[in-house]
Amino acid sequence: MKLPHFNSKLFLAPMEVVNDPAFRFMCHKYGSAMQFTEMIGINAVVRGNKAVINLARTLNEEKPVAVQLFGTKTELIKKSIQILEHDYPEMIKPDMFDFNFGCSSENIVNQGAGAALLKRPSKIGEIISTMRASTDLPISAKIRLGVNSKLPNYVKIAKIIEENGADMITVHGRYQKQGFGGKVDLNAIKEVKQAVNIPVVGNGDVIDEFSAKKMLNETGCDYIMIGRAALGNPFIFERINYYLKKGFLLKQKKKADLLNEYIYLAKKYEIKPQIIKQQERNFNKKK
Ligand SMILES: Cc1cc2nc3c(=O)[nH]c(=O)nc-3n(C[C@H](O)[C@H](O)[C@H](O)COP(=O)(O)O)c2cc1C
Repeated sequence: MKLPHFNSKLFLAPMEVVNDPAFRFMCHKYGSAMQFTEMIGINAVVRGNKAVINLARTLNEEKPVAVQLFGTKTELIKKSIQILEHDYPEMIKPDMFDFNFGCSSENIVNQGAGAALLKRPSKIGEIISTMRASTDLPISAKIRLGVNSKLPNYVKIAKIIEENGADMITVHGRYQKQGFGGKVDLNAIKEVKQAVNIPVVGNGDVIDEFSAKKMLNETGCDYIMIGRAALGNPFIFERINYYLKKGFLLKQKKKADLLNEYIYLAKKYEIKPQIIKQQERNFNKKK
């Protein structure tokens, strides 16, 4: 399927608790070409859990936006795509569906979901072909390199994801067991880029203008996904876009101004007070 039009090379990474619609809108405004929702559990969606379904809320102002799913059961994947695409037409208007094969947190891995699925390439194929059969929207997958460095099966998995109908793949260049430690393996992302014909999104440790340029140059990836560097700083997208276009550094906008802007939007879009508090801590952190 045809991917949405992207007006830059940068995407906002899916981030649990962080990616509320007001925050995503700000990232879009400052130059992220696509926003990902935080990961949304298919079991909860099919059970009709309103709080979880609400996590898939999208704003017209932030588009294009991809809704990210996690779980394991293909029949629930099919149902949750149907629910999220059709049952809340005013609230949820996804441009894409993404699937999480990369989350390394214990509670997800212990369910056999997220990065635990990297041990099961044929299951990954089933999940992607189920997604393909469940929607006419474009679909994508987010992977790590494997469970651990003894099992580097990322090229095999990327090919399976492509063969089963995905339109794009994101590679976080670490193994599940690494969590967020160690260095991102740019060479592995490059191997994936050379092995598949769908667009590849490079992810991991892009923190500024130089690491963004390095990710593009050393991997040949088509797009870059940014997570932690956007925490409390949606302006990072404008800085990196400016540098990639002009080769000069753009002055960082004041964090206090960004926080005020966030609070205004968070109130406008009725974000829960506890999420706003968490975001305030992110904006106030010194980086
Ligand atoms: C607070 C937080 C929440 C995250 N939640 C998700 C998630 O819901 N789904 C997912 O695929 N990855 C999630 N990740 C991983 C990021 O999407 C990304 O792959 C990772 O942070 C590496 O990119 P970075 O170095 O730019 O942060 C999360 C990361 C952080 C820091």
